[in-house]
Amino acid sequence: MAKILITSGPTRQYLDPVRYISNASSGRMGAALAETALRLGHEVVIVTGPVPTTYPSAAQVVPVVTTDEMLAASQSWFARCDGAIGAAAPCDYMPRIVETEKIAKTGAPLTLQLIETPDVVATLGQAKRDDQWVVGFALETNDRRFRATVKLEKKHCDMIISNGPTAIDSDVNDVELLDITGEVVARVKGTKQEVADVLIAEIDRRLIRKTIA
Ligand code: C5P
Repeated sequence: MAKILITSGPTRQYLDPVRYISNASSGRMGAALAETALRLGHEVVIVTGPVPTTYPSAAQVVPVVTTDEMLAASQSWFARCDGAIGAAAPCDYMPRIVETEKIAKTGAPLTLQLIETPDVVATLGQAKRDDQWVVGFALETNDRRFRATVKLEKKHCDMIISNGPTAIDSDVNDVELLDITGEVVARVKGTKQEVADVLIAEIDRRLIRKTIA
């Protein structure tokens, strides 16, 4: 049986002590993947941003807030895992300056300077050992297949799951699973639990059984 790290949910990047930028990720895909993996007897660690979703009680849940925190926790847990599934939607940008006091309204437009946050999956993909695997998600509004193959390579993933914007904050999903060569090896549309069942079965067959003696 494998020990699997799942990143899940959004991250938050604060502008000041009360305001933040984020996205509408619910953590439901991560929860569904964890549920299936646990049912098959795997151990699961979920590094999650703030979500309204309840994770399976058998999973070890590591709560984080920012993308930097998600990266640090994921790196530390990944070293003790066989593989990672990046189901999180980390905030890709953070304010260049975080104000220590609440920004006061002036009536004038407020300009924010944003800088990129680190990419968690790409960092894990780059650092993985020969006996570890990394699976990413690619959420795209257009050129889905092509953009997924670019991310597969750029983030050093062993497989990537391509899905569309209807996945966000929804109970259903419609995905394609691409193997390391970019070939579509599975297509599934249904509830996130149904999708998770197929994805974990494929990950089990194609990655876990190859790396666990
Ligand atoms: O946002 P993007 O479509 O590039 O995400 C693709 C994959 O990379 C997903 O698995 C997501 O969890 C991961 N990701 C990440 N850290 C980021 C952005 C994306 O781990 N900062």
